[in-house]
Amino acid sequence: MNLKYIPCLIALIVCVHCKSPYKICVPAQFLKDCEQMLEVETKSKATLECVAARDRMECLSYVQQRQADFVPVDPEDMYVASKIPNQDFVLFQEYRTDDEPDAEFRYQAVIVVHKDLPINSLDGLKGLKSCHTGVNRNVGYKIPLTMLMKRSVFPKMNDHTISPKENELKALSTFFKQSCIVGTWSPDPKTTSAWKQHYSQLCSLCQHPNKCDYPDDFSGYEGALKCLAHNGGEVAFTKVFYVHKFFGLALGTIPAHPSPEDPTNFRYLCVDGSKVPVGDKNPCSWAARPWQGLLGHNDVLAQLSPLREKIKQLSNAGASTKPSWFTNVLGLSEKIHHVADNIPIKPVDYLKKANYTEVIERGHGVPELVVRMCVTSSVALAKCRAMSVFAFSRDIRPILDCVQESSEKDCLRSVQDNGSDLAAVDDIRVAAAAKQYGLHPVFHEVYGEKKTPNYAVAVVKKGSTYTTIDDLRGKRSCHSSFGTFSGLHAPLFYLINKGKITSEPGQCVKKLSDFFSAGSCLPGVDKPENNPKGDDISMLKKQCASDNNPLKCLQEGRGDIAFVSSADLKDYDESQYELLCLNRESGGRDKLSNFETCNIVMAPSRTWLASKTSMSDVSIAHTPLSLAQLLDTRSDLFNIYGEFLKNNNVLFNNAAKGLATTEKFDFDKFKTIHDVISNCGLV
Ligand SMILES: *[C@@H]1O[C@H](CO)[C@@H](O)[C@H](O)[C@H]1NC(C)=O
Ligand SMILES: *[C@@H]1O[C@H](CO)[C@@H](O)[C@H](O)[C@H]1NC(C)=O
Repeated sequence: MNLKYIPCLIALIVCVHCKSPYKICVPAQFLKDCEQMLEVETKSKATLECVAARDRMECLSYVQQRQADFVPVDPEDMYVASKIPNQDFVLFQEYRTDDEPDAEFRYQAVIVVHKDLPINSLDGLKGLKSCHTGVNRNVGYKIPLTMLMKRSVFPKMNDHTISPKENELKALSTFFKQSCIVGTWSPDPKTTSAWKQHYSQLCSLCQHPNKCDYPDDFSGYEGALKCLAHNGGEVAFTKVFYVHKFFGLALGTIPAHPSPEDPTNFRYLCVDGSKVPVGDKNPCSWAARPWQGLLGHNDVLAQLSPLREKIKQLSNAGASTKPSWFTNVLGLSEKIHHVADNIPIKPVDYLKKANYTEVIERGHGVPELVVRMCVTSSVALAKCRAMSVFAFSRDIRPILDCVQESSEKDCLRSVQDNGSDLAAVDDIRVAAAAKQYGLHPVFHEVYGEKKTPNYAVAVVKKGSTYTTIDDLRGKRSCHSSFGTFSGLHAPLFYLINKGKITSEPGQCVKKLSDFFSAGSCLPGVDKPENNPKGDDISMLKKQCASDNNPLKCLQEGRGDIAFVSSADLKDYDESQYELLCLNRESGGRDKLSNFETCNIVMAPSRTWLASKTSMSDVSIAHTPLSLAQLLDTRSDLFNIYGEFLKNNNVLFNNAAKGLATTEKFDFDKFKTIHDVISNCGLV
């Protein structure tokens, strides 16, 4: 045998995965980081391969289907994983802290009280002054609520006339005398401030009761203890680690240190009502948050050691410099990068031993409130269901349910008949849909960096002199396609509304052509379905070239004004073009980036409609809006605006950047516009 093959042979024997690498799943946005990670030299010769998926949710299916071998996850993802049918996931490594490398859990929720507090059961917490980390957080909010709602003395939270979140706030404010629960109570700022007024006792124990938001001296893990020790609080919900820190007690690898606080004045309150000194080795905890870790399919267990070794070495390699793959790809962080091997365990068992399943599944009492989204395809149904499990795992309520109908019309009818609660409509059809089915808008998509609706805008060249619509009579116009809001409906409505042209059924397009008498380019105007009577529309095609692009039309001097959507402005050069502010009485011009204040009219976004008779809009919108808010900075977890199973614009448009309540939406204006263009016979 040729000697030079021997090393290869040895390599093959020692390390099967030198030939077939371990496939780590990574959200597509972090693929580059993953590839950089592959360059890192380690002693381990196990090799990794990066498999890109849409996001962490898709990574879970990739692992289940063996397209990838493992993925770093949070406990909430383990919950989602455990709900996938026919899965065989195992958690095989945990990410711990250097401070507590041997701790079983990331943190344990505890209740701290004054040592002389005269109570002997959890029921005795009623009427006390309570200190919390902040709204929606684990140990300061979710865990206490999960625990308290089991007690019969705790107020019921299943009043369906108000949202689940408001039920929680109402129950807490009834149960406790005063509290400090800072934060964003609702994804809708108006609702948050209304609730903070209404349930002001929940803020009265804060440093800044009127703000009731971060930063507040009496919020957070340590702040809750400060609130207890120095602001009249009688009970604090926090975690063991910060109890030790606050009172200067040793923990894990951290030695005791001087503290002005006296631990002997305080006790942990146990679920059975007994008390244990703070700092005790066995704090009575009610639930814990498990560590993050690596989740693989069952087959990785056959070759686990080389992979585990490789991950540990990568963690060590990145620990000092924290390259971007450290966080984005492996899911490690400044504090949490001690990689520990655990006995491989199913995600469901891992969560159970921390009592964390109960926390995730926390409800509000039967019947649980459910919001039903209507969808029109099986892909949308799959996405809706994925969103439902994801939102549920992140403590977002009401529960999302999904109903499939065969068309947009059927969905609208379903909402009208209380077969579902929400249906989506695009474009100006939203006005007709609302009217025809007696529905109203609840939330809509927003777009662009500034997260606004789109606007119909009028673009002109810098250096031209037009400032009002009258200056454009007899000039040349370029439009985005026939049937679009910005290209046709908005300019028509504008001209008719201002009395510049008259509205006659079937004649509006012709009048538009007369107004821009030097010729236009309105792409699609000559399609038979757009011109059934075969009218002479040659002037509206006169300025078109092969590409039908309104920007080109302006650039090549074929037009004097372009009617487009603000969504298209990213292609326009700000040094060459400006907006004509037709929405202002006096006209005028402004920079392209000021389309929110200088436009023709707001364009209807994709909008979700609800029936007037169903539950409150705050309840209906809460789940989608909370989801959008959570994922705003974490599209790596679930990219709900990305393509889904290779389909575009599923449930939401790919171009969407967020969701917003429709109060700022000028819906009456859309109705007026719809009436005008419908009178023209165009919708
Ligand atoms: C889980 O709940 C049980 C029963 O209430 C409790 O004894 C135990 O300490 C809890 N586990 C954790 C990790 O908090
Ligand atoms: C609508 O349907 C839901 C689910 O079937 C039901 O619980 C609710 O009472 C209905 N609402 C009305 C107003 O009929």
